[in-house]
Amino acid sequence: MDINNIPVIAIDGPSASGKGTVAQLVSESLGFHYLDSGSLYRLVALKAIRIGIDLNDEEALENIAQNLDVTFAGRKIQLGVEEVADLIRQEIYGNGASKVAGHPRLREALLDRQRAFRKDPGLVTDGRDMCSVVFPDATLKIFLTATPEIRAKRRYKQLMKKGEGVNIATILEDIEARDKRDSIRSVAPLKQSKDSIFIDTTLLNITEVVNKILKQHSEISNKSI
Ligand code: CDP
Repeated sequence: MDINNIPVIAIDGPSASGKGTVAQLVSESLGFHYLDSGSLYRLVALKAIRIGIDLNDEEALENIAQNLDVTFAGRKIQLGVEEVADLIRQEIYGNGASKVAGHPRLREALLDRQRAFRKDPGLVTDGRDMCSVVFPDATLKIFLTATPEIRAKRRYKQLMKKGEGVNIATILEDIEARDKRDSIRSVAPLKQSKDSIFIDTTLLNITEVVNKILKQHSEISNKSI
């Protein structure tokens, strides 16, 4: 099968807009593969912070990205022999990810790795540049967002559940700083691509968002039959 005929549902949006949860549920419902592209940036940040690399050192970060020994299996993420799926969700690595993600050479080094997730019967992926750079020919493109206050509340609940001691005011500040950094960078900035469908999730629950996306997908699939 021509790889370009394999369907891709690409979901972009700002921090804590619910993309990850929604994308995972959509992929499970369709039996598609799933790529959380942010985890790659988080993994590079984790490795760089551990080795003590300056997050402005583009060459060293590119090197880490090229040699990332990572295995994804369901919800598990293994770096070398270490299970890191929970660890990389910590805010320190989210903020680190947003810093390393501004380097073009590092982004380039992660491109093929991301595109390799496009496998039969299909892929659901989420990030910042899935619709614009990584899968510009995606079959369905979604831009998910919500107000910063609602996103801070969601992230607060998520981190509390994981036992991270967090403060909602600090989370809101971090979210606003990350939105700004992700939107103004020169390479692959966070913005809605023209051909994507805008969904504001401020007043929607996860199931409502998942159903909206599944409905769009089924309309597109029926058209192409
Ligand atoms: O879960 P959350 O949306 O907070 O973060 P994430 O999706 O894991 O991404 C962490 C950071 O990686 C973001 O703030 C972006 O700067 C960067 N990122 C990116 O530049 N491009 C992507 N495709 C995915 C993430």
